[in-house]
Amino acid sequence: MHLTSTLTTLSLALLSLASTTTAKIPQSAYRMPQRERTADPTNPALTWHVSHFALGCSPGGCVYSFNILGHASQNTPGFNTTCNGTSTQDDYAPCKDAGILAQIEPATYPNWTVSVEHQWREGMFEEFYAFGEKNVSVASNSTGTFTIPVGSVYGVA
Ligand SMILES: *[C@@H]1O[C@H](CO)[C@@H](O)[C@H](O)[C@H]1NC(C)=O
Ligand SMILES: *[C@@H]1O[C@H](CO)[C@@H](O)[C@H](O)[C@H]1NC(C)=O
Ligand SMILES: *[C@@H]1O[C@H](CO)[C@@H](O)[C@H](O)[C@H]1NC(C)=O
Ligand SMILES: *[C@@H]1O[C@H](CO)[C@@H](O)[C@H](O)[C@H]1NC(C)=O
Ligand SMILES: *[C@@H]1O[C@H](CO)[C@@H](O)[C@H](O)[C@H]1NC(C)=O
Repeated sequence: MHLTSTLTTLSLALLSLASTTTAKIPQSAYRMPQRERTADPTNPALTWHVSHFALGCSPGGCVYSFNILGHASQNTPGFNTTCNGTSTQDDYAPCKDAGILAQIEPATYPNWTVSVEHQWREGMFEEFYAFGEKNVSVASNSTGTFTIPVGSVYGVA
């Protein structure tokens, strides 16, 4: 039902994560069961809301900026922050709220893949990482508003 209680009541397997994500997450991380997601697809913490997405490109690369809002749920803190960075950064870059990190990479033109990570701590010893990505169009008629589904959540205890 909730991330923490799911975490503590299930026995958790270590997974090799290298093939499933480009993000740098600790080797000791385990993938959280997606059970609560299927059990409650309306969980507001599992959809992030992007607005004012903008990409400005020059021959040297592109610069992105956007606002992103994540609603809190019982075991997930909410956030509302602004992200900016470039298409040439080779890793996630922190947003204004450093618990949120973002990266953009070109997909099939005119689309870009927007990847976002949310990391937070509970107590002294538990860290959580949630990831989501979305392919978005940067065609001139795009509204700059879209949602990103949270695709995976990892914990480190
Ligand atoms: C999120 O931040 C934006 C920009 O600062 C602000 O306009 C908006 O009202 C905030 N939304 C919520 C739900 O706090
Ligand atoms: C992001 O925004 C900050 C503050 O406006 C600015 O100092 C920084 O240079 C920007 N970074 C990029 C990569 O555009
Ligand atoms: C985005 O598009 C790329 C190919 O352009 C594809 O490999 C990737 O799986 C897509 N990601 C999502 C979240 O749809
Ligand atoms: C670009 O993204 C839009 C919106 O996500 C999608 O409808 C469209 O099929 C994508 N186009 C390509 C070429 O991937
Ligand atoms: C946006 O523009 C593209 C390219 O001109 C077009 O294919 C697409 O149908 C437009 N989408 C909307 C919602 O108007």
